[in-house]
Amino acid sequence: MKILMVCLGNICRSPMAEGILRHKLRAMNVEFETDSAGTIAMHTGEAPDLRMQKTALKNGIDISDLRARQFVQKDFDDFDLIFAMDQSNFKNILTLARNDADRNKVKLILNESFPGEDREVPDPYFGGQEGFQHVFDLLDETTDQLINNYFA
Ligand code: 4NP
Repeated sequence: MKILMVCLGNICRSPMAEGILRHKLRAMNVEFETDSAGTIAMHTGEAPDLRMQKTALKNGIDISDLRARQFVQKDFDDFDLIFAMDQSNFKNILTLARNDADRNKVKLILNESFPGEDREVPDPYFGGQEGFQHVFDLLDETTDQLINNYFA
């Protein structure tokens, strides 16, 4: 299973989602690939935001190796599932979809833990440090459900 996490900048939410998921899947005996991307190219090549890295480390997860890149149409070919962090990311990803097969790969990540509710992972970029722990907690919970839903 190949899973792509997508947010706006690819320096806060989606690298954290990737980092948590890969941490959990590495501890299981399953084949997987993970990556993350942003709908904008502004932070291409950058490591995750230091506030996100710090929160990750505090929770036992190292995301310092990850580097930002922009979501591209080819990602529909390269991944089985594409998880958007919020509605805006979801809509922007769908503008690049070519067909129903592409569209069906795209999901709002919090629908794994809150089915059908279309909840969003809030953007922590312009807020304080506590927003980053909140993002971590949401993603920690929803990746447990994601694993139940797709790797059980
Ligand atoms: P992310 O957070 O989408 O979770 O990576 C953001 C990062 C950068 C910006 C906005 C959100 N920005 O405007 O540069």
